Amino acid sequence: MTKLILDLDTGIDDTLALAYALASPEAELIGVTGTFGNVTVEQGVANDLALLELFGRPEVPVFAGIDHPSWADSFEVMPESARFHGANGLSGARVPACAHSSVQATSAVDFIIDAVRSHEPDELVIVPTGASTTIAAALQAAPDVARRMHVVMMGGALTQPGNVTPFAEANVLQDPEATNALFAAGTDLTMVGLDVTTQVKLTRAQAEEFRATGTATGAFLSDMLTYYIDVTEEAHPTGVPGCNLHDPLAVAAALDPGLVGTFTCDLMVETEGAGRGRTIGDPARVTCPSGRSRVALTVDAERFVERFMERTLALVRRC
Ligand code: BDR
Ligand code: CA
Repeated sequence: MTKLILDLDTGIDDTLALAYALASPEAELIGVTGTFGNVTVEQGVANDLALLELFGRPEVPVFAGIDHPSWADSFEVMPESARFHGANGLSGARVPACAHSSVQATSAVDFIIDAVRSHEPDELVIVPTGASTTIAAALQAAPDVARRMHVVMMGGALTQPGNVTPFAEANVLQDPEATNALFAAGTDLTMVGLDVTTQVKLTRAQAEEFRATGTATGAFLSDMLTYYIDVTEEAHPTGVPGCNLHDPLAVAAALDPGLVGTFTCDLMVETEGAGRGRTIGDPARVTCPSGRSRVALTVDAERFVERFMERTLALVRRC
């Protein structure tokens, strides 16, 4: 059994990542922490509580993370994020308000520090799928946790262009300084970036399989996925049809590292100029090599998508 903490900026593919984690028999989700990116922390945490209830797991605790980068006074959702995920992060779809649970009083930073200290490094994996700000803050507050922390992150792009600027992937661009601190901290880290997440696609026909379950949760997921596919295809009219399963792939790689082929590589993030937010793996340029990071460059897409569909459909039928 692998224990997981998901650090989500809960938009559409974060929702799918949450569903995949809950649907995976070898995973125990011990907490969800809210970061910013697709939405604000406040909105993301509200989405997490509502989704956990929708998926039948309201007892999973939700913790609020830091709500803006340390170099800014506040955070505003980027237009690209609002376009891809809708104003509430869930394509505008209304999830019933969460009646039974509320955000924990403990901060996400304290929860992460305590969780890392109280587990063996190979027992717990943290999967960030938004800005790295909260995790970087935990590392700064408790540098002793760095060598015990195991992270499989969705973010960055080494062999592909960015998806917000020609160089930068959205999650890294939200807070390049924080991702840089995470890369330099000496944690055991796997970067699951656009190099592999753009190879895992969900089609319109697969989106409809959720509706065909005849459940309200299935209809909700189908509607949300149809929205996500519409905007993705509109943005990339000549690309492979469907939408990318960015965040669920990071969860799947955390649970089954063999799904991706990795390459050992020290990393850093460019923070200046037009390349701000670009992930760099060139050893001649990485200034603080951690010696403990790798980048996913290949993926068994067919095996992953098949497993994703099988598990999440089973979850939806149970809800
Ligand atoms: C990443 O950015 C967000 O929009 C998605 O949820 C995913 O985490 C893809 O670049
Ligand atoms: Ca995300």
